[in-house]
Amino acid sequence: MLWPHKDLLCISQLTPAEILHVFEMARRFAEINSRPIKKVPTLKGKTVVLFFVEPSTRTKTSFDIAGKRLSADTYSLTASTSSLRKGENLKDSALTLQAMHPDALVLRHQQSGAAAFLARRLSCSVINAGDGWHAHPTQALLDGFTLSEIWGEAMTGKNILIVGDIAHSRVARSDVQLFTSLGMNVRLCAPKTLLPSGVDGWPVEVVPDLTAASRGMDAVICLRLQLERQQAGLLPDLREYARHFGLTAAHLRLANPGVRVMHPGPMNRGVEIDAALADGEQSLILDQVSAGVATRMALLFLYLTRKDQTGEE
Ligand code: CP
Repeated sequence: MLWPHKDLLCISQLTPAEILHVFEMARRFAEINSRPIKKVPTLKGKTVVLFFVEPSTRTKTSFDIAGKRLSADTYSLTASTSSLRKGENLKDSALTLQAMHPDALVLRHQQSGAAAFLARRLSCSVINAGDGWHAHPTQALLDGFTLSEIWGEAMTGKNILIVGDIAHSRVARSDVQLFTSLGMNVRLCAPKTLLPSGVDGWPVEVVPDLTAASRGMDAVICLRLQLERQQAGLLPDLREYARHFGLTAAHLRLANPGVRVMHPGPMNRGVEIDAALADGEQSLILDQVSAGVATRMALLFLYLTRKDQTGEE
């Protein structure tokens, strides 16, 4: 497939066929990650800048490892190690980085729309590694890839529950777009104060009670309470929240046989998920992390070789 996109900003840019193509490429690249020597020359001579204005462990490290495993040169900077700290604005910082001729800039930023803002101004590919509440497309792709490794082509019609702080979650928004685009049924469960205001227009079912919401599910994705994005007063107290919205083994007993548990991380054990469940045999949490490297290898390959394939300047 000739990859038609310069930038990856949100899942709604991608057709179902393109999403499945990313999974197929990720499957091929995952094999490299199991070799004793985990490096191939595929992206030799390409340059990737990782610009992480917000903190990250999984996304930043996996993009870095993904680039290096494909022999791309990767350079990373953060809010505290860049001239943003001296007052330089995002546009000037990005134009400065572009003048060094990277092939892609991977951006994480606290403002929704920051990646789109740069994509309009930069000639290199911009890959959104999470912008405010808006989107986290590479997380959704790795979540989908993780499930596709288990369910294969039988993903259509599967039932997925997303539980927790939906309102502040870019992962929830991107996951809903990806799962529904592939024909899965998505159910949301959260306190009213943590549901987004426009949720009535989303192609999902909302079930406020976690016990009822767990029935018939094939996978449950727990979300972290994003206290750093919340206004005060949205929750009465954390213990009460955990009692009503923390996933436990009792909930999973109501789900379909073989139900899987996921979490994009970082997680608060004992708040949104029972600690034993996070480590249990139904958990895919560390599989998601491994899938993140393969998925990001696939994405770097598709976005960085796009021009080579089309002859575009
Ligand atoms: N899931 C995720 O985006 O994790 P990080 O914030 O650690 O990158």
